[in-house]
Amino acid sequence: MSMHNDIQKVLVTEDQLRDRVKELGAQISKDYAGKDLLLVSILKGAVVFMADLMRAVEIPCEIDFMVVSSYGGANTTTTGLVKIIKDLDADLSGKDVLIVEDILDTGVTLSKLVPMLKLRNPNSVKICTVMDKPSRRKADIRADYTGFQVPDEFVVGYGLDYDEKYRNLPYVGVLKPEVYSK
Ligand code: IMP
Ligand code: MG
Repeated sequence: MSMHNDIQKVLVTEDQLRDRVKELGAQISKDYAGKDLLLVSILKGAVVFMADLMRAVEIPCEIDFMVVSSYGGANTTTTGLVKIIKDLDADLSGKDVLIVEDILDTGVTLSKLVPMLKLRNPNSVKICTVMDKPSRRKADIRADYTGFQVPDEFVVGYGLDYDEKYRNLPYVGVLKPEVYSK
C-alpha cells in the first residue's frame, strides 16, 4: 500500500517547497557572501532539507552533521536536556554556522544547542528551519530563516517522521487519524 494513502491532507506541496528553498538559498548566498559558511544539519529530520538547501546556496560552504537527543522521557520538553550523540567533525572557530533544521517546535532542542555551539568560538550561529510551529514555542528562540509556518498539528514528510516512517514523502502533510491507532 502506498504511503500516500495514509495522508489526510497536504500542507506544503513539492512545488511550494522547491520554490521556497530556492528563495532561502538565494537569501543565504547574499547574507553570507565573503563569510566562512558552515551548514550544520541535525540528523535525521533535516537531511532532506539540507540536501536541497545546500544546492540552492551559490557561495562556497562546508557542511557537517550532528545527532542530538532530547531526553527526560515524557518530560523532555520541560526538562530540556540535550545530549550530543554524534558531534560535529568541523572546528567551529571563526566559522559562520547556520543550523539547518527540519522543524522548530517547542524550541527546547535548539535553545540548548545554540549556546553549546557558541562556546566553540564561531563567528556567528544562526538558524534556518524549513518548518516553524510558533504556537508551540516554550523556549525563547526564533529562526533567522524560515520556510513555512505550520499550524499546531503533527506533520510528516520532507524528512519529518512519525515512528521513523514517512520521511521520504516529497511533501509535508498530516496523517489520517487511523494511522496512529495501527
Ligand atoms: P523542539 O523544537 O525542541 O520541540 O523539537 C523539534 C524536534 O521535534 C524536531 O526536530 C522534530 O524532530 C520533532 N518534531 C516536532 N514537531 C514535529 C512534527 O510535527 N512532526 C515530526 N517531528 C516533529
Ligand atoms: Mg529534528
